[in-house]
Amino acid sequence: MKFMIKHILLIALTVSCFSCKKTSEAKSKSTNSNSNEVIQLDLDLSDTGIKIQPTMYGVFFEDINFAADGGLYAEMVKNRSFEFLLPKMGWKEPNSNTHSHNTDSGFLNPMQYSGENTNHRFARVTVKGSKYALINEGYRGMGIKKDAKYNLTLDAKKVSGDISKINIQLIDTLQNVLGETYIIPEKNTWKNYEAQLTASKTEAHAQLKLTFEGKGEIDLDMISLFPEDTWKGRKKGLRKDLVQLLSDLNPGFLRFPGGCIVEGRTLERRYQWKKTVGDIEDREVLVNRWNTEFMHKFTPDYYQSFGIGFFEYFQLFEDLGAEPLPILSCGIACQFNTGELVSMKDLDPYVQDALDLIEFANGDTSTKWGKLRTEMGHPKPFNLKYIGIGNEQWGEVYIERYKVFHEAIKAKYPDIIIVSGSGPFPDGDQFEYGWEQLKQMNAEIVDEHYYKSPEWFLENAGRYDSYDRKGPKVFAGEYAAHPKEVEDGPKENNWQGALAEAAFMTGLERNADVVTLTSYAPLMAHIDAFQWAPDLIWFNNLEAYGTVNYQVQKLFSTNAGTDVLSITENGKPLIGQHQIYASVVKDVHSNELIFKIVNSGTNHQNIIISPKGNKLSGEGSISTLQSDDLSTNNDFDNPEKIVLKTNQIKISDGKIQIELKPQSLNLVKIKI
Ligand code: AHR
Repeated sequence: MKFMIKHILLIALTVSCFSCKKTSEAKSKSTNSNSNEVIQLDLDLSDTGIKIQPTMYGVFFEDINFAADGGLYAEMVKNRSFEFLLPKMGWKEPNSNTHSHNTDSGFLNPMQYSGENTNHRFARVTVKGSKYALINEGYRGMGIKKDAKYNLTLDAKKVSGDISKINIQLIDTLQNVLGETYIIPEKNTWKNYEAQLTASKTEAHAQLKLTFEGKGEIDLDMISLFPEDTWKGRKKGLRKDLVQLLSDLNPGFLRFPGGCIVEGRTLERRYQWKKTVGDIEDREVLVNRWNTEFMHKFTPDYYQSFGIGFFEYFQLFEDLGAEPLPILSCGIACQFNTGELVSMKDLDPYVQDALDLIEFANGDTSTKWGKLRTEMGHPKPFNLKYIGIGNEQWGEVYIERYKVFHEAIKAKYPDIIIVSGSGPFPDGDQFEYGWEQLKQMNAEIVDEHYYKSPEWFLENAGRYDSYDRKGPKVFAGEYAAHPKEVEDGPKENNWQGALAEAAFMTGLERNADVVTLTSYAPLMAHIDAFQWAPDLIWFNNLEAYGTVNYQVQKLFSTNAGTDVLSITENGKPLIGQHQIYASVVKDVHSNELIFKIVNSGTNHQNIIISPKGNKLSGEGSISTLQSDDLSTNNDFDNPEKIVLKTNQIKISDGKIQIELKPQSLNLVKIKI
């Protein structure tokens, strides 16, 4: 299994490779010598006819590494509705009767609703004395900031006795109180209560503590705590700093909700969008498929609350001005796991899910699903244009299922663009087979995935130069350079990988007539709870930063331009000659030429760019991401170790003369 192999290898390397790591870091240090040669490049200012699509640079979002629950979704209480397989997971009762036989305390019993609730459980708390406390540990703690406000809500129902007050406190790991409030439970029927706490101190690993006054039994459910300060101030909304990092990327699209999470390890555990819309309390909690995927990254407390469901995703894309690109199950569970298949005769409900999703996003208020969207607060359609069928599926089983979806969607919604998949690997028999079949079907966009070494990325900068111009378009839907000989975690993000991705991206940009959507993967990771590295953004309970790979993505996505031009040496695209990789676009809105040029070597390089049949004049700028140390990454202490540094450049005799620093990505901008 690909995941297993990768991670077993990593453990072995971590244990045995300390000395070789040091050597490789030393080797990566630049000699900073100047190459004497001046490299002459030709710039053709005439129109290539290749447009950069507004979707060119997007993001891939999956709830892996605590990216949604524990991350983007700002809920701070883990297992708020006691639905985990172990209903008390995330909750502690330090003095409970069951633990200490303390009769001045109490205990919690998970209970089952008698009706047909989708979330089946609640907690019955029996209070016998003042020593009883119920503590939620949060997602590896709760991040609270001094003077910030936190909104608590819970459902409660008095059952017996005289419980007159629920005290609510934020505490640190030494039990110091960092904020408090209370609720007066009133009724013997379910009622929702609200209270607010203000934090007196900043703490990354706070916990939420409930104590009770009086004695008796009380039922509790949906115990929830959110910062008041969320993205756009939405109640029970998203973590502001994380959305801001996404917004700064100016993404053209957002692919969601995965990834393997779409497929599920079994069909029963696949992602079903219909279970993620409507009232939050009614969204059925599901075990996250990354929960126990890697034995060395065991996260049995990883569940999907679906607090971010399809409605919230669509709302986020609208905020970001990005096209939504949902990927749906095609009736095959993850083929690295069970590979369970729905039989062809039972495929209809899966196809119907896809059709209904389009109606949910685009249908008017009179339609069943358009009405639900309206009731959720968005009467205007979300204007969905793309839908993906299947994630990393392969073989005949995929093709025959995909065909059914394709025909049904096109019959009802001919304008919806369908994304199909070519499997988990960028080459090999299954990849070739998938592409061949999809071509024959006139598939519109084929998703390709590559998690490969930096060397592979450099070697493949010309990958799309030879792709069939008349075939389907390409969605580079998941990619990341995985440097070897690095420790697991944020260190897997390093300048070596980022620079190789940048070199590869010049090839994507040059071939924007074939490659119309691209996204790095995965997007986010919680430093204390990740399963997969490298990732684009790292966060803890208080802070987040963009990796060096993020800086590369940002450089490309915020300087996408509109029209591809041609830059060559002796008539050939720059795909590694002199260790240089380059692409150039024109931006018709800002009237600029925008070059992205990578020098992957350890020498300075002098280049002269001569425009064909025309002269340039005036001034321009060169902004550089650079490090002499390939093992460098940004981190929490130094989130801007590698960021763009800008200098002016002069244009003399109509030519652009620049010096490229070693191991650098350069953004050159010239007003036309
Ligand atoms: O990005 C992490 C995983 O990599 C995705 O879930 C899957 O599609 C791929 O194998």
